[in-house]
Amino acid sequence: MKIAVLNGVNLGALGTRRPEIYGTLTLGDITSGLASAFPTVEFDFRQTDHEGEMVGFVRAAASSDGLILNPGAWTHYAYALHDALEPLEIPKVEVHISNVHAREEWRRHSVVSPAVSAVVAGMGPYGYHAATGYILAREGT
Ligand code: DQA
Repeated sequence: MKIAVLNGVNLGALGTRRPEIYGTLTLGDITSGLASAFPTVEFDFRQTDHEGEMVGFVRAAASSDGLILNPGAWTHYAYALHDALEPLEIPKVEVHISNVHAREEWRRHSVVSPAVSAVVAGMGPYGYHAATGYILAREGT
């Protein structure tokens, strides 16, 4: 069971970026917590601030059993990410650490959501765990 966990723009700054919203865990803390919670899963963790590179990561995830994606601010306007996600025939989960629906108006709309299987928002770092549990359940493991 291989799951790609892709984090987009500005998520490499977790830990110091708006801790009152995103918490104090770094992305490294979150990914190592996820790996230890699901020791049988082979995770492929990636982070980039470059949209084109993320499109490549999304395409490469076609060979995984599932995809977890936090697109950061790309969520709200990156149609290229939507188009890269659309053809993937694996469970795809969009994760947001914060509750985007309880924040600024522009964060309430995702151009990515129509191309994914499920969306998690507002669960903090646990959202990645919930997304993993969903993919495992879908795969019947
Ligand atoms: C985010 C929410 C986005 O609106 C924001 O631009 C981020 C992080 C989240 O995880 O809550 O960078 O995706």
